[in-house]
Amino acid sequence: MRAARVTRPRTCAAPAMPAPYRPWPAGARARPLCVLTLRDVHVALGRGRDARAVLRGADLVARDGERLCIAGPSGAGKTTVLKLLLGLLAPDRGDVCVQGRSLAQWLRRDRLGLRRVVQPVFQNPLSALPPRMRVRAMLEEPCKIIGLNNPPHAIAEVLARVALPDRVLERHAHELSGGQQQRVALARALLVQPRWLLADEPTAALDPATGAAIADLLRDLSQRDGVGLLVVTHDAALPGLLDAKVAHLRDGRLSTPESADGWRFAEHAAWQAIGTAP
Ligand SMILES: Nc1ncnc2c1ncn2[C@@H]1O[C@H](COP(=O)(O)OP(=O)(O)OP(=O)(O)O)[C@@H](O)[C@H]1O
Ligand SMILES: [Mg+2]
Repeated sequence: MRAARVTRPRTCAAPAMPAPYRPWPAGARARPLCVLTLRDVHVALGRGRDARAVLRGADLVARDGERLCIAGPSGAGKTTVLKLLLGLLAPDRGDVCVQGRSLAQWLRRDRLGLRRVVQPVFQNPLSALPPRMRVRAMLEEPCKIIGLNNPPHAIAEVLARVALPDRVLERHAHELSGGQQQRVALARALLVQPRWLLADEPTAALDPATGAAIADLLRDLSQRDGVGLLVVTHDAALPGLLDAKVAHLRDGRLSTPESADGWRFAEHAAWQAIGTAP
């Protein structure tokens, strides 16, 4: 005879109906805290003689709703940190946690739930958007995945949040400017109402003025709705534009986050001298 299945009490009750689209009111504190942590994380990449220890005891605490940049020279392991937090890579040693739960647990039990908490934003939005879809279909897709009950309303609202006109809905990605493509990519990410946007050089593929406008948008989204920003960057100006703290990644370890001002003057000069990570 099969043993009766034990159902564990759920820590968060699942809603009986699909949740309506409801961006959090500014300053809302009812939701559980969502902290991202790395503790003594080690990652080696490559094989044989090509193997390289990329992270060697990296620690990070990104607090709920915080704006944080990870800065460091090319090859330092910045993208590797984002991949760990998105569940795209497992550490060789150490803990990676999202909202107090290890990534291994998220991936085993609630892969979709993880994507509702941490959403990626890529450097090149054109490669991140489906080439054959119109923007409307691109935005309907996340609505379906998370079961929003009023997609047209949610889409109209998210377009306003990223400052795009309705007419882009009928276009394909290649018919948009780089800035518009990044706004559509952000709109897709925002539709799942994530707690964090994990962005890898989100302005690097854009001209300086467009990049600054996207940085303003990211900062506003974070300040208004409390969405956390973890942004990897080479750009000395970006932490200031985002009003973000900066943690340096060097020799496989992350420094304690500090204010952008101190970084801009002291560290950028040091990078120029160091060049690329070994
Ligand atoms: N799949 C892989 N196999 C082997 N080595 C890899 C792999 N992915 C990354 N690496 C190496 O790991 C190191 C860190 O890569 P990562 O992409 O995290 O650096 P980064 O700081 O994001 O660099 P950049 O600023 O140039 O994007 C680099 O030396 C890279 O060549
Ligand atoms: Mg990178």
